[in-house]
Amino acid sequence: MRLCVIGAGYVGLVTATCFAEMGNQVMCVERDPFRLARLAKGQAPLYEPGLESMLQDQVAAGRLGFTASLAEGIDRADVIFIAVGTPSGEDGSADLSHVLEVAEELGAGLKRPCLVVDKSTVPVGTAERVADRIHSGLAARGLGFRVEVASNPEFLKEGSAIEDFMRPDRVVIGCESPEAAECLRRLYAPFLRNHDRLLVMGLRAAEFTKYAANAFLATKISFMNEMAGICARLEVDIEEVRRGVGSDKRIGTHFIYAGCGYGGSCFPKDVRALIRTAEQEGIEPGILRAVEARNALQKTLLYQSVREHFNGFLKGRVIALWGLAFKPGTDDLREAPSLVLLEALLQAGARVRAHDPVANAGVAARFPRAVETGQLRLDDSPYEVTDGADALVLVTEWKQFRQPNFERIRGLMRMPVIFDGRNLYEPEQLVESGFVYRGVGRPQ
Ligand code: UGA
Repeated sequence: MRLCVIGAGYVGLVTATCFAEMGNQVMCVERDPFRLARLAKGQAPLYEPGLESMLQDQVAAGRLGFTASLAEGIDRADVIFIAVGTPSGEDGSADLSHVLEVAEELGAGLKRPCLVVDKSTVPVGTAERVADRIHSGLAARGLGFRVEVASNPEFLKEGSAIEDFMRPDRVVIGCESPEAAECLRRLYAPFLRNHDRLLVMGLRAAEFTKYAANAFLATKISFMNEMAGICARLEVDIEEVRRGVGSDKRIGTHFIYAGCGYGGSCFPKDVRALIRTAEQEGIEPGILRAVEARNALQKTLLYQSVREHFNGFLKGRVIALWGLAFKPGTDDLREAPSLVLLEALLQAGARVRAHDPVANAGVAARFPRAVETGQLRLDDSPYEVTDGADALVLVTEWKQFRQPNFERIRGLMRMPVIFDGRNLYEPEQLVESGFVYRGVGRPQ
């Protein structure tokens, strides 16, 4: 099929590249000249394992192209995906200005019927608004053909987006006509060869499914974080409890890891947007509010526990941080727990030495003043940052932090204390190696 993907951000780029890989002809429209220049050279403008090499292969094979011109992108396309950003607006609701702008441009530019698909995460009713804009644009040009707008929310996780796209748990399609369903079924068939997990539903149900899924996952995390808080008081290890409850199939083993709070561009934004939607409909979203409040609190706990350990005196203390990205496998720092911790440590006068495998540059750009004065130093070596440190805080559980040389670390640190924000380590092992260990929801 001939496809056009509008927006070469995280979702758009992964979508475009994976569809090209399956033999489709894909044009990707990107307005940002900096991004476009990088893409033209076959460079991915964001870090996602496996993406860049696949992108280069598809560009070389002539199946994937990039353009700044929407007219060029949509020319001859059978299916057009809208994958532009929907950031949080000031009141927490999803800001649809980019999506609606694209709809207007489509109304002004489309020359023949095609299927338009919303891939961006958008509130219920957006597909209808997009269709209205397109049709009024067409009408203004004296064109009477209909363009169907379907919803096909994405469920990609940063760090495993290619795998998620290639082997999806399910593909959700919301549409109004059997033709649209059939068209998308054909497009996704190669990704669903061994299991038919394509769910066709109403347009609004598809839009809502995306929010409900993310909000539910965020709820699981906040719930476990709250349990961890209670466990810590009761001398109970949340990790034992996690294994105990997770083995019940109805609960499941995923997304029940207590930690230092969820971050990223999706959970915080989508929970906020859903709260806003509920408010607009006169529904009190008590659970969602609690999920959000718990997460905000959770992000402050690592700092509180470091501060308590030093009896409130952090000025001049050297604190080493491992992991800054909001989760492993990405350089994304949006709403990352590390930023809350960093801010507080710097404010308290601590000297911070931090290491992340890919997000150092992003953090340096966010704290230019602290870098300039030397209060914050970012290093390429995880061991280097522990040299002379009074404490080590594990914030993001990158694989390379799983089994470090603890003996070497103990030798380098001034005081062997580890704050494990992801419960990555075995407390007994660390205590045996001579460390003071502080986990999340674990006995001290
Ligand atoms: C999330 C969803 O998992 C995807 O299905 C969805 O497509 C995506 O949002 C989106 O809406 O685009 P993502 O934000 O990439 O994906 O990251 P997750 O892997 O879901 O992690 C989110 C946060 O939760 C991270 O900060 C992670 O550390 C935290 N987390 C996750 C926990 O604290 N505990 C857990 O058990 C799992």
